[in-house]
Amino acid sequence: MKIMVTGGAGFVGSHLVRRLLERGEEVMNLDALKYSGNLENLQDVANHPRYTFVHGDICDAKLVAALLRERRIDGVINCAAETHVDRSILDPGAFAQTDVIGTGVLLEAARRAGVGRFLQVSTDEVYGSVETGSSTEDDPLSPRSPYSASKAGGDLLVLSYWTTYHFPVVLTRGSNTYGPNQYPEKFIPLFVTNAIDDQPLPLYGDGRNCRDWLSVYDHCAGIEHVFRHGAPGRLYNVGGGNERENIDVARLILQHLGKSNSLIRYVQDRPGHDRRYSVDCSRVRALGWEPTVPFEEGIRSTVEWYRTHESWWRTIKSGEFKAYYEQAYGHRLREGGGEVKGVAG
Ligand code: TYD
Repeated sequence: MKIMVTGGAGFVGSHLVRRLLERGEEVMNLDALKYSGNLENLQDVANHPRYTFVHGDICDAKLVAALLRERRIDGVINCAAETHVDRSILDPGAFAQTDVIGTGVLLEAARRAGVGRFLQVSTDEVYGSVETGSSTEDDPLSPRSPYSASKAGGDLLVLSYWTTYHFPVVLTRGSNTYGPNQYPEKFIPLFVTNAIDDQPLPLYGDGRNCRDWLSVYDHCAGIEHVFRHGAPGRLYNVGGGNERENIDVARLILQHLGKSNSLIRYVQDRPGHDRRYSVDCSRVRALGWEPTVPFEEGIRSTVEWYRTHESWWRTIKSGEFKAYYEQAYGHRLREGGGEVKGVAG
């Protein structure tokens, strides 16, 4: 098959491109190379005979339409997205642009080109905070950040194409993903890289917010599985089955690095911070997918990856990231005044 992966230079996208190449597919990666897109993530496959890279934006209707037609693309997997909640609080417009408008542009071009399969990569955050139990695919959407609201908008647009046009879309809603090559704005790589440098780990609120952690390898396997076997018009939760409170993840990271818990710094909470995400994955399990990476092993190997790939993240952290970090964390860390609460054990 000829598959267009959008956002293939990003975190999940790059792992997916590699996985599809390993499975014998032909892959075209369309990526706008915004701040978190990084061709270094795909250095090992850059010259692969079945891989091509196109620098471009999913919002560019002309480009997308031309590529889908001229390259005779069989399937599209849309990984291109603005994904970071804290950035969506600082700049919500970029999220509506890429995650709603961009998705719509790509979807329409794919329909007109007669693409045989369209998979939208989405997130469990569209269900909102789940105090008890787990979200099923039939639950109402209750997004609470500009990020999750934009993803929810994109999801609804994608689903409408099945209802309206019988265009064969499928959707995955993945839980919090971690692994090598994740841009260090996200919780796990930020805490790992800060800890390596003995910098404070800025833990929001009381540190007891809970996320379901999914290895990027399991996530990509889930995406591929739904792409191949999912029923058109259907969406599938893809969760890791590893619900952990943030404080426990922070301690685990410090333990792997042999660093003290005193690096944990409780800081001002994120506005609208969802308390807990949890997804029921029985639908995708019935389709034959299940996660395989145990969380403790996944964290161990992820910490090891960041420990042994310092130049990858140091380049990032010394660039655009610096200004973002100051904007998002400067006041928090200064306000905290070095206070460290409740880090014993
Ligand atoms: P994040 O990686 O931003 O994913 P999401 O908010 O999309 O789930 O954050 C994961 C959890 O970690 C979330 O509860 C917020 C928390 N967090 C911190 O406590 N400090 C941080 O600096 C970051 C980035 C996140």
